[in-house]
Amino acid sequence: MAEELIIPVGTDRNAIYDALIPQINGLIETESDLIANLANLAAVLKEAFGFFWVGFYIAKEGELVLGPFQGPIACTRIPFHKGVCGASYSQQKTIIVPDVDQFPGHIACSSASRSEIVLPVFHKNGTVAMILDVDSDQLDDFSEIDAAGLQGILTLLERKL
Ligand code: SME
Repeated sequence: MAEELIIPVGTDRNAIYDALIPQINGLIETESDLIANLANLAAVLKEAFGFFWVGFYIAKEGELVLGPFQGPIACTRIPFHKGVCGASYSQQKTIIVPDVDQFPGHIACSSASRSEIVLPVFHKNGTVAMILDVDSDQLDDFSEIDAAGLQGILTLLERKL
């Protein structure tokens, strides 16, 4: 396993996502433990982009339960139909929220969070296994570039579910 990430400097996020794909593949392909892989994925995204909060909520016990993350402490349990995470889970789609104050039902784990992107991660049978939540302290910080880049990373993870 590589000991450090190689992150292109002075480039756009697209180039960073491209550079991360093979490195993340190398990190997780030989590790079978899900929690270990989620922990490293959160660390990679935090280090590469400096996002305010990056983490996973795992679908279990009838709700979304906090999994590995990087950033400030967060809500531990989110009902399947609540907040941005619950909307992504129940609608089975990626949701970009440019301004969290404008999203009805947004759950504010931290008042510093201003925008976010949430993506579902699927089991092979098509059910949602977990969601990835990325929060920014900047308004309107996420675009379709992040949606595509993060989806590419999650596709690597889904192969292992
Ligand atoms: N804002 C999320 C809750 C999770 S935290 O931001 C880490 C939501 O509305 O679902």
